[in-house]
Amino acid sequence: MTKLYLAPMEGLTYVEYRQAYHRYFPDFDLYFTPFAAPGRYHVRDFSTREKRDIDGESNAGMHLAVQLLTKDPDACASLIRELASAGYEEVNINLGCPSPTVTAKGRGAGMLKSPDALDAFLEDVFMQTEGAGIRISVKTRVGYESAQELPALMDVFNRYPLSQLIVHPRTGRQGYDGRPDLDAFACALSRSRCPVAYNGDIRTAQDFRNLKERFPDVPAVMLGRGVLADPWLPEKIRAAESGRPWDDPGEEVRKAQLRSFHDAVFSNYLEAFDCKNGVVDRMKELWGWMGQALPGHEKELKAIRKARRLPDYRAAVRVLLS
Ligand SMILES: Cc1cc2nc3c(=O)[nH]c(=O)nc-3n(C[C@H](O)[C@H](O)[C@H](O)COP(=O)(O)O)c2cc1C
Repeated sequence: MTKLYLAPMEGLTYVEYRQAYHRYFPDFDLYFTPFAAPGRYHVRDFSTREKRDIDGESNAGMHLAVQLLTKDPDACASLIRELASAGYEEVNINLGCPSPTVTAKGRGAGMLKSPDALDAFLEDVFMQTEGAGIRISVKTRVGYESAQELPALMDVFNRYPLSQLIVHPRTGRQGYDGRPDLDAFACALSRSRCPVAYNGDIRTAQDFRNLKERFPDVPAVMLGRGVLADPWLPEKIRAAESGRPWDDPGEEVRKAQLRSFHDAVFSNYLEAFDCKNGVVDRMKELWGWMGQALPGHEKELKAIRKARRLPDYRAAVRVLLS
């Protein structure tokens, strides 16, 4: 079976979401934290949010990869060693963030601009973490300006014992525009010495089937926006892979499941954040995706979007999910 990973999504897939998902939907093989800790050397210096996101008890029962976004090899190595000592399974280095504020500082996808500098960074990190006893993986785009940069980047990745390379086949410059470049993904897959996972625009079981038709040997697929919009997507994909139709429990059961899931995310957020209106904003951001799981309920979803305060929000959700 193809392994399924939950993508890191800043603001959306924090531990409050992951924990609730893990409880109410079939498990992902690996959960990725949104990126943490640019420029900090010690886990104790993580922000409160970052600490909460990797807290052992809150993440119990889930296989977790902690994602770091930094161009400082000493900070990266120091954090990897600390995370290894604390028993974490995998650290993932973010080479994919396309945000101009991140790439302008040479971080995230900005690190793909210079394969030589990336090589020096990885050499330093791997030298300083040798024998640390933790898997180190990379999540990357296929280039910064163009996928023609990929062969040189693959040469760099192949010099290091990465546990896996997660490839989102767009360029950094593209952000989320255009379509994933499957020829570039084929290039990564054929050249890589470590296992390659696919990520990008898998929204339906049919998208997954199409991917596997072209790349039958791809060992893992990472799901992001697709699972936010349809929490049953992994279940549908697993059914498709086993050659059976998805056993749709019907709208009433789906609504009840979504209600349990929603209530768990919501109460996790209420516990985590002092600002209750901030919780409403976070939940509304999630509904921006999750609303797609309930087609035909635009009026009720609009009431959720319009809610500003906690009581209005609760009432609007009750109407939608009752
Ligand atoms: C709101 C948002 C936040 C994201 N945050 C991160 C992040 O923290 N780290 C990361 O590697 N990728 C991040 N991504 C990228 C996703 O992990 C994923 O690569 C991208 O959405 C493509 O996959 P998808 O089409 O399955 O969503 C983010 C994407 C979105 C839309």
